[in-house]
Amino acid sequence: EASVAILISGRGSNMMALVEQARGYRVALVASDKPDAAGLDWAKQRGLATWALSPRGIGKAAYEAALDTALRDAGVGTIALAGYMRLLSDDFVARWRGRIVNIHPSLLPKYKGLDTHARAIEAGDAFGGCSVHVVTEELDGGAVLGQSQVPIVAGDDADTLAARVLTAEHALYPHMLAEFVMTPFDRVRDTALKLPEVEERPSHG
Ligand code: GAR
Repeated sequence: EASVAILISGRGSNMMALVEQARGYRVALVASDKPDAAGLDWAKQRGLATWALSPRGIGKAAYEAALDTALRDAGVGTIALAGYMRLLSDDFVARWRGRIVNIHPSLLPKYKGLDTHARAIEAGDAFGGCSVHVVTEELDGGAVLGQSQVPIVAGDDADTLAARVLTAEHALYPHMLAEFVMTPFDRVRDTALKLPEVEERPSHG
């Protein structure tokens, strides 16, 4: 069974969904850049291993080095970002290439970054939603593994839409993570990463 770490920065409702609906993977660690993240208490009460460290004071490189060690010590093979609100460095992403997934509250490639729900409403979109994608160096730019869409209705504001999307997130993410950890790494994850294609050279001679 695949060992997964879930990285959170706050509430952790997606982490809870991933734990409660775990199938085909085991949650080996819940880690956070915020030692006071509410989700950590929930994870501890469930008897899950937790790790937390603030990058403040020690700097990003030292923080990520410590995180990397914690992940490897826990035997983690896959990282699931779940409301993890910090950018991972290019170095970190490279070390875990093809092994990090994220859930983003928009229908990517629309609305990368923050304030996704307000931007969808402002644009007059008929649907909002969420996307599970592979994490690359490009913010919210890796291959999309799956999406779920919800209607935007009259009177919606960012909060009401966020709540509707969040319910969809909790249904989508565990399913996508189970699928992702089952995917043969070399064959399909490379495709998902959109590695540059090597052009076949016609052989002369
Ligand atoms: C979720 O809606 C997640 O998609 C979003 O933050 C929320 C975290 O809630 N993530 C991002 O915006 C990532 N840029 P949770 O802590 O209850 O899972």
